[in-house]
Amino acid sequence: MNVLMISPGFPVEQPFFTRGLARQGNQVIGLGDQHENDLPAMAKQSLAAYLQVPSFSDQQAIFKIVANAAKKVRIDRVECTWEPYMVLAAQLREILKLQGMSIEQTIPFRDKEKMKLVLDRNGIRTPRHESTQTKDGVRAAAHRIGYPICVKPIAGAGSADTYRVDSAVQLEEILPLLGHVQEVSVEEFIEADEYTFDTVCVDGEIKFFNICQYRPRPLLGRTHQWISQQTIALRDVDDPFYDSGRRMGQQVIQALGFQSGFTHMEWYRKADGEAVFGEIAARPPGANTVDLMNFANNFDIYSGWAESVTKGTFSLPITRKYNAGHIFKRAQGNGQIQHIDGLESLMADYGEHFCVVDLLPIGAQRRDWKQTLRSDGMIIARHPDFRTTCEILDQIGIRLQMYAG
Ligand SMILES: Nc1ncnc2c1ncn2[C@@H]1O[C@H](COP(=O)(O)OP(=O)(O)O)[C@@H](O)[C@H]1O
Ligand SMILES: [Mg+2]
Repeated sequence: MNVLMISPGFPVEQPFFTRGLARQGNQVIGLGDQHENDLPAMAKQSLAAYLQVPSFSDQQAIFKIVANAAKKVRIDRVECTWEPYMVLAAQLREILKLQGMSIEQTIPFRDKEKMKLVLDRNGIRTPRHESTQTKDGVRAAAHRIGYPICVKPIAGAGSADTYRVDSAVQLEEILPLLGHVQEVSVEEFIEADEYTFDTVCVDGEIKFFNICQYRPRPLLGRTHQWISQQTIALRDVDDPFYDSGRRMGQQVIQALGFQSGFTHMEWYRKADGEAVFGEIAARPPGANTVDLMNFANNFDIYSGWAESVTKGTFSLPITRKYNAGHIFKRAQGNGQIQHIDGLESLMADYGEHFCVVDLLPIGAQRRDWKQTLRSDGMIIARHPDFRTTCEILDQIGIRLQMYAG
């Protein structure tokens, strides 16, 4: 099968999906804005051909390049596993008359208000919500919904420009910070723990699902620089504790008519067990979360995803031997990494459970912690026991220190 893969080399996970498609015996045609020579080796080796486009913002040029290519070689599928180009992928499918998600099916996965309206109609518990483009609109929505509220962009990512607001006075402090955001979602603030429900589906049927727990909630991790965010892919996903979330996940997939590929949903679990919908995307989660599924199951789900979208089957054995979690570390101070403390003793205590140690090296420039989820480094650890997994990650949070200056 000939598969057009959008942005096969960027960001860092994309080469793995591209390789997955090639491993399933497909001819992969990449379409991206990078120069062919700048593609990561894994992407380059997995591609049968590459179409360079001048810019992803120049849609007409992209349509023309793809239409020309399609005259020379049959294109069977268009795949995209990166959020910004989900609609572009749908447009190309419609132009080429291919199966897969249409524009109409894709929009509710992109627009957080439309998404919740569809789910409301299907009886799924969403936070009370309104969308608005004006400051007065936010004030009025806050009044109707009641504090505390969450204010966030309608098409946000990575908790950017997202605020918890507890009072009308605080709202006035936040509003000026939102001037650059065109449309915001105002929501009832849900006090809860936060989880994912991720799937690989074939023709609307869930073939594999994964639940991650975020520690702490992403909004907290994004608000306080000293926090080292953890995400753990859970081993005991069938525990009754997650019943409400699993059920919601299945209902959401059905309500949105999702067919084949990866989905990534976030949901809140309140102390009384009630599940509340967070958001869903028609793509895999980012920031190495797919790797957690791999380490939890000892498989290559990049390839499993490719099998599901090109062959309509999912044959990977789902073993769930481990909880697999990552922790992102932020250095103290600004500038370049000067030294790293605690790694040796952590390796001595827990090294056998580490899967990945990927810290910025001494001398590297610190990353902007507001711009990247990965911060200045990542460790992935796994263990069959959930509490032990948490303890290992917590010990990394406490004992591993990176200093910049
Ligand atoms: N209604 C809400 N109640 C409580 N927390 C929320 C709410 N909406 C968003 N958040 C917090 O903000 C984070 C980011 O919001 P989310 O809707 O997931 O957008 P994105 O991840 O695309 O930036 C969530 O992970 C959660 O911690
Ligand atoms: Mg989110």
